[in-house]
Amino acid sequence: MSNNDRSGGASAPPEKLLEVRNLRTWFDTDRGLFRAVDGISFDVPRGRSVGLVGESGCGKSVTSLSLMGLVPSPPGQVSADSIMFEGRNLLDLSAHDRRQLRGGRMSMVFQEPMTSLNPVHTIGRQIVEAIRAHSDMSAEQAKKRAIEVLELVKIPSAAQRFDDYPHNMSGGQRQRVMIAMALACEPSLLIADEPTTALDVTIQAQILELLRDLQQRLGMSVLIITHDLGVIAELVDEVVVMYAGKVVEKAPVHALFDDPQHPYTIGLLGSIPRLDVERERLATIEGMVPSPANQPVGCRFAPRCPFADSRCHAEPPPLRELGAGHEVACWRAPVETISSVAIDRRVAA
Ligand SMILES: Nc1ncnc2c1ncn2[C@@H]1O[C@H](COP(=O)(O)OP(=O)(O)O)[C@@H](O)[C@H]1O
Ligand SMILES: [Mg+2]
Repeated sequence: MSNNDRSGGASAPPEKLLEVRNLRTWFDTDRGLFRAVDGISFDVPRGRSVGLVGESGCGKSVTSLSLMGLVPSPPGQVSADSIMFEGRNLLDLSAHDRRQLRGGRMSMVFQEPMTSLNPVHTIGRQIVEAIRAHSDMSAEQAKKRAIEVLELVKIPSAAQRFDDYPHNMSGGQRQRVMIAMALACEPSLLIADEPTTALDVTIQAQILELLRDLQQRLGMSVLIITHDLGVIAELVDEVVVMYAGKVVEKAPVHALFDDPQHPYTIGLLGSIPRLDVERERLATIEGMVPSPANQPVGCRFAPRCPFADSRCHAEPPPLRELGAGHEVACWRAPVETISSVAIDRRVAA
């Protein structure tokens, strides 16, 4: 029995690859300080996948850019109690070490591959450059590796496609190329920010299937970011739900789908067409994410929440554990009445 098995195999909690503690990313704007990400904490265990979910404007991309060290400063300021990755606090790293990490141990796939691929170079050359920036491989070795990763992401006739330009490829293939580039240096963490949003539905499903397959085969961790809960149901182990710069709920994926606790999560689930018919008509959450200049003092969701009472409007609710890794930031949870009232309203509507 190896050392790793001593604590009892499956029952041992997985090792944490990334531990984010109290991350704050603020922007200096003409209208004052905007707290785009305001004290969020979450973990990504090694070899697991975590979904970061919330409507557009909630701070998901700012979170991923903060982790990658890519927030423009000014106007941005990133701070945290700690961001531990592979045992090192990213906040303590030099700019040089941070750059080495990016595209190396920690890499990222963005929503729109056309903006990340250089139109004037072949895809092969771009992957080779990414590899050589992080290793001392020769040009020849790097080319071999580039073809390997193109095969890994299932680009047909990879060796021939090596000399293609991005505009010769379909949107789905370009996204595969971006994934190949991200994987070329064997990252332990892949951050995928809305990787399928720009693609049509069939291609979306293929890319998600590819990500799941790669995550399992390579044993890497994936942080997948999306505004669409439906996208990640089959893909992730855990879900972190964000609203207006805060984490409002965190849970293992099944607990989140079967027993959502935050009214915002319930609303998000309602916008997924499948699920049970019961939730279907909660489809839209009325109102909008609060504007930077107008953050509520209490719970940030209170102005849109059908269950908010005076305390919700006055005091921000802390994130607290309800059990089994399920955490929620809501004064009203756990309340049977949240879901039953919601269903009553639906019936009355
Ligand atoms: N460079 C910036 N300067 C000012 N505000 C920014 C900047 N980047 C992002 N924001 C603001 O931060 C908020 C969160 O944005 P973002 O993380 O992109 O949301 P999303 O959840 O859709 O990915 C938005 O209100 C956005 O306007
Ligand atoms: Mg975004």
